[in-house]
Amino acid sequence: MNAPAVAPSALAPAPASEAVLAARDLSFAHPGIGTVFEGVSLRIRRREIVALLGSSGCGKSTLLRVLAGLAQPARGEVRFLDAPLAEPHPRSALVFQQPSLLPWLTLADNVGFGLDFAHQPRSDGAARRARVAAAIEAVGLAGREAAYPAQLSGGMAQRAALARALAREPELLFADEPFSALDAITRAEMQALLVDVVHRWHSAVLLVTHDIDEALLVADRILLMGGSPGRVLREWTVDMPHPRDEHPEALTALRLAILGALRHSS
Ligand SMILES: Nc1ncnc2c1ncn2[C@@H]1O[C@H](COP(=O)(O)OP(=O)(O)OP(=O)(O)O)[C@@H](O)[C@H]1O
Ligand SMILES: [Mg+2]
Repeated sequence: MNAPAVAPSALAPAPASEAVLAARDLSFAHPGIGTVFEGVSLRIRRREIVALLGSSGCGKSTLLRVLAGLAQPARGEVRFLDAPLAEPHPRSALVFQQPSLLPWLTLADNVGFGLDFAHQPRSDGAARRARVAAAIEAVGLAGREAAYPAQLSGGMAQRAALARALAREPELLFADEPFSALDAITRAEMQALLVDVVHRWHSAVLLVTHDIDEALLVADRILLMGGSPGRVLREWTVDMPHPRDEHPEALTALRLAILGALRHSS
């Protein structure tokens, strides 16, 4: 489903070439368990959609948590908008497999939740309401503002979680398997919606996924993580316009290359 063209409130488009996030030589270990990943360096440019693929347990979610400032690396540095990152940045947002909406709040209040917390840019009531309304409309849920989470389908709840992230007007959206609990049709709708809204919101995305096809349909660049401890093993640029399913031959060739590398990655 295509959402109506709603512009976010006050985002100045930034040059697409600048890095929103730069990580250098990261490693992470769980005490008593051992090193999860090491030697990870990567950059995410403004407005770039980067997919992180890799076999189960290779450290994708742990790396996402470190890049998002939710966990501290044992070594290395994460820079967000050219400043060292010590905690989640107010211009970042997270979406997970479960939408994690608060059941006692309406859809609109869930989407606005978090905007009043410390470190968020100050906004008056009208600006805040406009941000919430624009985010809800962008994900196709206009008219459902007063609904409670129990009244939403799984796909609608995940749209609400995406709207909650967009309301922060993120420079970078971290998404950890955000669509893997959805049925195939809803998942395909959400993949198209994600590309559409992050392009309009000028956001970059780091998308962790198990699904090669999802990475191919959505990402500008695909990173393959693997090994033990985990490392970034390979990288592919997906230089194809959207919607990607109009280019099946090119997708198939890239898919086979990634599948082959994935088989040898653990
Ligand atoms: N809180 C924790 N304490 C100890 N070990 C953990 C913890 N969280 C994850 N691990 C371990 O760290 C490693 C990486 O886990 P992580 O969740 O990052 O993998 P993943 O690539 O996201 O896997 P999946 O694709 O299944 O989601 C695994 O071996 C896991 O068992
Ligand atoms: Mg994971």
